[in-house]
Amino acid sequence: MKKVTIGDLVAKKNREKIVMITAYDALFARLFDDYADMILVGDSLNMSFGGKNETIGLSVDEMIYHAKAVQMGAKRAFLVVDMPFGSTITPEITLKNAVKIYKNTLCDAVKIEGSKEMAQTIKLLNQNGIAVIAHIGLKPQLSRKEGGYRVAGKDENEANAIIEDALVLEAAGAKMVLIEGVPSHLAKRVTQALSVPTIGIGAGSDTDGQVLVWSDAFGFYDEFKPKFVKRYLDGANLIREAMKKYADEVKNIKFPSQEYEYTK
Ligand code: KIV
Repeated sequence: MKKVTIGDLVAKKNREKIVMITAYDALFARLFDDYADMILVGDSLNMSFGGKNETIGLSVDEMIYHAKAVQMGAKRAFLVVDMPFGSTITPEITLKNAVKIYKNTLCDAVKIEGSKEMAQTIKLLNQNGIAVIAHIGLKPQLSRKEGGYRVAGKDENEANAIIEDALVLEAAGAKMVLIEGVPSHLAKRVTQALSVPTIGIGAGSDTDGQVLVWSDAFGFYDEFKPKFVKRYLDGANLIREAMKKYADEVKNIKFPSQEYEYTK
């Protein structure tokens, strides 16, 4: 079992699609590891795992706790950890937090949300040996400020600004660029403009790879489904059915039957 490296991922550009998925614990990371090129400990953790309605609120230590668990399960995939809201407010603070994440979680890269203003930060991390993935387009960490989640880059000015963000952040040393929530034609332009790979979410099929939040993709979160999410499993209903069966069997003294008892 060979560990996926940044070189392997870069080599896939224009040749083979990159598969990325989130994970927040060892159990699911282990299940995804054989099929995913990249596993992301995303700050979607706050929503998928923490039940909140935004990504804001996680600490660096909480990200580290979950990333350490994921690392126990992800032995092959390239492991990426999100820098949470508030951990990237200056280049120096970002470096301190990224070093802590890098050392404690053995991750392969950190992901930073931001536009071209993050160039200096990415440069500093790169100079200090930390690989960075830049997250552009729709930036969930700005959702409270912007009053929700909105497809980014719909008009030409905004689209050009996103292309500029991508180019500036690549020049600053970003190893990959993740593009969220933009029209597919814009994601295609960004992908063509860059020499590093792009990963899309809600960005159409022309990026170099795709990422989905696992609980969305496998239907474990079924209260709301964004347009860009395809459900590969009816996870929530499967768990409900199994839980109901277990509860019924306990109530009706069908479980544990003799088969599950110690006799000595
Ligand atoms: O936090 C996350 O899971 C992410 C993905 C939506 C890309 O950043």
